[in-house]
Amino acid sequence: MNAALPAPIGLLAELTHRCPLRCPYCSNPLELDRRSGELDTATWQRVLSEAAALGVLHVHLSGGEPTARADIVEITAHCARAGLYSNLITSGVGGALKKLDALADAGLDHVQLSIQAADAGNAERIGGLANAQPQKMAFAERVTALGLPLTLNAVIHRGNIDEVERIVELAVALGAKRLEVAHTQYYGWAYVNRAALMPAKADVDRSIRIVEAARKRLEGRLVIDLVVPDYYATYPKACAGGWGRRLMNVTPTGRVLPCHAAETIPGLEFWSVRDRSLADIWAASPAFMAYRGTDWMPEPCRSCDRKERDWGGCRCQALALTGDAAATDPACAHSPHHARVKALAAAESAAGEAPAYVYRTIGGAGGDDRPAPARI
Ligand code: SF4
Ligand code: FES
Repeated sequence: MNAALPAPIGLLAELTHRCPLRCPYCSNPLELDRRSGELDTATWQRVLSEAAALGVLHVHLSGGEPTARADIVEITAHCARAGLYSNLITSGVGGALKKLDALADAGLDHVQLSIQAADAGNAERIGGLANAQPQKMAFAERVTALGLPLTLNAVIHRGNIDEVERIVELAVALGAKRLEVAHTQYYGWAYVNRAALMPAKADVDRSIRIVEAARKRLEGRLVIDLVVPDYYATYPKACAGGWGRRLMNVTPTGRVLPCHAAETIPGLEFWSVRDRSLADIWAASPAFMAYRGTDWMPEPCRSCDRKERDWGGCRCQALALTGDAAATDPACAHSPHHARVKALAAAESAAGEAPAYVYRTIGGAGGDDRPAPARI
């Protein structure tokens, strides 16, 4: 490998796109991979061994719902054998609880459980699945009973932003060590539902104040990570830690992406683990090379002193909002599009009643023919 190219730290293994929930902000692509095309157990095990050899430390076993895979325990055991720290990213519903003890026995290191809201009725409306909340609570209790560290992940939007305080209380009650309060990022399915999800600026500010107060109050008991919404930010985040710098994302069928939404960018060539080693893909895949480093940057990023902090922000968001993946992320105050992004967020959040969610299903868009949200 190129001596100047650091090894990736994390691998997001999207084991399947199958999922019992239908969250309106799902970050998976609009076109989901079908079960018949998923990588088999032996190929995932090879990929995980290659990841360890490449220097990857953390593997996030994700989806869809990763416990929908019949071989999730074998895959987890292989992470342990390869010396990889394994994190199960799960909805906690369906067959997740039944497999949990076996996963712990196989060496699972950490569990990240999604919750849609603290109120059961609201959570189940958002996730589109009746009776999901009691399953999640039982799952969380078993995680902590097994001594596994638990993180709760709550994606925050207009439909649950009034529940941030209750979500913090729930995390404490469930014995979570960490809580992620992650305001929705608008790509993938969340972009389709943007007008229904966009919170008002005043509500966002209040949620940030609640998190800051809770951090002080709960210091030493609960760590709270906060992801603020890009549309109201001054500077963008270093998406995926910078394109092609820290993360690899393997899709259910084996394509390797620099971030989970990279397939939305037209013209990128993604290499597959079916044809090449992970090391070759990391070093030379055209998709990883496209926006790695700073040479691709336009102004104002090119001459900006933050360019090696945020790496120009998010390519997928730049594409979604401007039609150009190489543009400066419009979440940045230096972008010529920034003011229009803020105006768009204010207009969508001010609409009297939020539009109904468009729910997704594998093989279909959810039976809705509304046009895509406006660009700027
Ligand atoms: Fe980041 Fe580019 Fe904005 Fe500078 S101009 S803060 S590098 S997005
Ligand atoms: Fe693709 Fe941000 S989600 S670069």
